[in-house]
Amino acid sequence: MRCLELFCGIGGFAAAVQGHANVVGALDLSGHAIEVYRHNFHDHGARQAHLEHLDEAEIFGYEADLWWMSPPCQPYTTRGHQRDLEDHRARSLIRIMALIERQGPAHVAMENVPGFQGSDAHALVLRTLSDAGYEVAERLLCPTELGVPAQRERYYLVASRRGLRPREKREAAAMRPLADFLMAPTDEELGQVVVPEEALAKHGPGMRIFDLREEPGRIANTFTGAYGKTWQAAGAYLRMADGRVRRFTPREMLGLMGFSPDFGFPDHVSLRQRYKLIGNSLSVWAMREVLSALIPSLSGAETPVDAKASEALALP
Ligand SMILES: C[S@@+](CC[C@H](N)C(=O)[O-])C[C@H]1O[C@@H](n2cnc3c(N)ncnc32)[C@H](O)[C@@H]1O
Repeated sequence: MRCLELFCGIGGFAAAVQGHANVVGALDLSGHAIEVYRHNFHDHGARQAHLEHLDEAEIFGYEADLWWMSPPCQPYTTRGHQRDLEDHRARSLIRIMALIERQGPAHVAMENVPGFQGSDAHALVLRTLSDAGYEVAERLLCPTELGVPAQRERYYLVASRRGLRPREKREAAAMRPLADFLMAPTDEELGQVVVPEEALAKHGPGMRIFDLREEPGRIANTFTGAYGKTWQAAGAYLRMADGRVRRFTPREMLGLMGFSPDFGFPDHVSLRQRYKLIGNSLSVWAMREVLSALIPSLSGAETPVDAKASEALALP
């Protein structure tokens, strides 16, 4: 299957379908994201592009069977003021819907925040796809339902003109302990992720700090793009054996999201940028589950339950 990855970011879609489908193009506005994307997926033709100005000849020229998109979520979040289709960041989605109306691919799939459901943009997507003859399935899915101890509930939609594969009934997955996803930080990482005493004194009471020795069953709250910038409401922290508190490292966050241990960043990308790009990305595990309605081989792909931790684990 030929896939076009729109709003590609660092390539959560590419990571999910690797070995199962061909990504023939990947587009995003952010130069940082495209750089990281290319570092990991050299041959997907990733390039910087403003999707609201997407050229018709270019998009149809990819001859893609599937258009994947994870458009900006700010128009549908309280933080983003919920301006919905009035928000300038919704224009790219409106443009893509107009292109689908003209000549959509065989399959379309998308991801967004739960608040997308019930928005005017949601109604526009459903109307466009139904008028163009797609069968549509939607769901909210959180990786915790797949046994991943990290929340990231998202809205997912899959649509096809050729019919969708029915969803498989699955046993509820056993929750893996969060400690399975920890990796002893290198000295360099530790120097970057330990929370300074002053920050802890000021913001500690509002931070979610886990001591996994005492509470091994903790589940990380959603990591957002602001995790490297603000102390509260952007993700969880770990108390170390020596009493200090640290952030999760980017490697640990990527592991929790289901990216391969080989995924990396160009050296000059700052820690804050890494956190931002990962926080904006998506759960590869959840994606595989959802996309298996269109790409059947994904239902046999590695799941969080059989994934092995990439290193020997020791609570740091
Ligand atoms: C929710 S993130 C998607 C992240 C991606 N799925 C990943 O795995 O990293 C939304 C992305 O849309 C991009 N974006 C926002 N507005 C855009 C526009 N008008 N044209 C192209 N990309 C845009 C942002 O740079 C960001 O990478």
